[in-house]
Order: sequence, then structure tokens, then C-alpha cells
Amino acid sequence: MSARLLDGQALAVRLQQEITPQVAQFTARYGRPPGLAIVLVGQNPASEVYVRNKLKAGSGVGFRADLERLPEAASLGDVLALVERLNRSEAHDGILVQAPLPKGLGGDAAARVFDAIAPEKDVDGFTPTNVGLMVQGRPALVACTPSGIIELLVREGIQIAGRRACVVGRSDIVGKPMALLLLQRDATVTVCHSKTPDLPGVCREADILVAAVGRAGLMTRSFVKPGATVIDVGMNRVTDAAVARALFPAGHPRLARFQERGSLLVGDVHPDVADVAGALTPVPGGVGPLTVTMLMMNTLRAARARAEGART
Ligand code: GUN
Repeated sequence: MSARLLDGQALAVRLQQEITPQVAQFTARYGRPPGLAIVLVGQNPASEVYVRNKLKAGSGVGFRADLERLPEAASLGDVLALVERLNRSEAHDGILVQAPLPKGLGGDAAARVFDAIAPEKDVDGFTPTNVGLMVQGRPALVACTPSGIIELLVREGIQIAGRRACVVGRSDIVGKPMALLLLQRDATVTVCHSKTPDLPGVCREADILVAAVGRAGLMTRSFVKPGATVIDVGMNRVTDAAVARALFPAGHPRLARFQERGSLLVGDVHPDVADVAGALTPVPGGVGPLTVTMLMMNTLRAARARAEGART
């Protein structure tokens, strides 16, 4: 293995240490802590874990962090009514509705719910207002995963301006905002997706390669230019022994862990890429902790903007 590991977990700890005194200052000044409300509809097991981590990080930096649960059988009207209540709440500066929403709410439920969040409380950066402001390079609350990746690249001293970047995946949550943030920092950006011909060849042109496709180990060595920086956004739970064996050689500690537990969390990037890349984010411990940290940053920022607006 030659790639430098980009330790997102360590950076997340440092950033949260930077945020904590700023939260204390806010609380002393305005007589209340910044407030974050997380809406969880139903009982998706992965969402339960993500939400728990977000609440824990929020309390850890000194926020008021509230979980607002609705049952799986809740109607779209119930979810919208809860969002409206939180929009009006004095105590809450940030609202996050955890995706995915239950399928029973209908195909357009996520769009309708995100549209209903007050843009000044939209700490996910998902509302059309914040997306539009971000596209134009104006101040906005920006989606947490891509902004965490930019923070990591900058803090690790990885040059973005003038480099070729390739983003694989075009989701509204990661791929699209990631491409725009890299473009704003003067990278030459290519966005790839499932219909891109010669995906490995296109990826191999990149100095900075961001993998956000949700397919365990899809990006093998043949996708990576020697020395490139590879950012792995994937969080895939592998339960198939054949897939685990294709990722890790016999005797590898992670394969032993798979055999103990029956599952393993892996990224979109094959572990062998560490032999080719110049720098690489691990999974777990790379991008994930930074997403949570950027949520803390966005919430503090939203709280300051609301409190300052309220004073004037
Ligand atoms: N589900 C997976 N990632 C996210 C995220 O960043 N925000 C929300 N609201 N839901 C998610």
C-alpha cells in the first residue's frame, strides 16, 4: 500500500473541537443553544444509525438536538405538518429530514418535504433556494457530504485549481453539488454515471476522483491514474461472502471480521486502489464523519444568521 490515508475521522474530531467553543459563545450571547431538529419517519435501520450519530455529534458540540419521530404509516400531510411546525419553532435553527422516506409516501415525497423546509433552516442544503444559490456561487447552506470533501481536500493541502476532477454519480445529495463545488474551485470537472462509455478510461484522466455510486468495490485499479487523490463516498454493507472475498485477500483482517460478523461496511473503491492512488479516504473513517461535522457547521451558521437577523 502506498496511498496516503486521508483521515476524515481525525479531521472531524479537530473541526468539532473548533466548533464547540463557538457554540458556547453563541449560547452565552443569545441565552439559548443552537437547535437542530432531525425528522425520522419509519424505522430504516441504516437511517437509525445515521440519525443517532448526528444527534450525538449535535449534543457533543453543545446544540439542542431533538429527534422528531413519525411512524412508518405517517401520511405526507403528517410529515409536512411537522416540518411547518419546525419552520415556526423559535428553538430550532436547523431542520433535517432523514432520507429515504418510506416508499408508501409516494415517489415525489422527498421533493415535496424538502421543498417545505424553510431555506434558512435547511442545514442539508437540499431546498431549491439553497441549491440555486450554490449553483450561482452565492452564500448558501450547502449539502454536507460534498462540502466536507472540499474541507478535507483543502485541509490536506490537495490542490484543486487547475486539476482534472471526475465525479462518478450524479445524485442531488452528492454528485451534482460535488461537481459544482469543485468547479467553483477551478477544477476541470467531468461527471460520470451509469451510461458513461469507457468509465475506467474517463476516471483515469482524473487527478481527483470522487466515487459516489453505491456499488461495493466497483472502482478498481484500472480506474485510477497513478498518484491521484481518490475520495470514496460509498457506504455499502456487504453480506455476500463471495463479494467480501473479491475485495480482500485470504487472511486479511477485514475478511476475518466479515467471517465473525457476517457483514462488512465497504466503499465504492476497491481496496487494491491503495497501491495506485496518491491519497485515499478509508471506509469507514473517511467521508462519513465529515458529513456529520458539516451538519454541525451548517447548523451553527444557520443559528447565527437567524439570531443576528432577529437582533436587527
Ligand atoms: N440520507 C443519506 N444521506 C443523507 C443526508 O445527507 N441528509 C439526509 N437528510 N438524508 C440522508
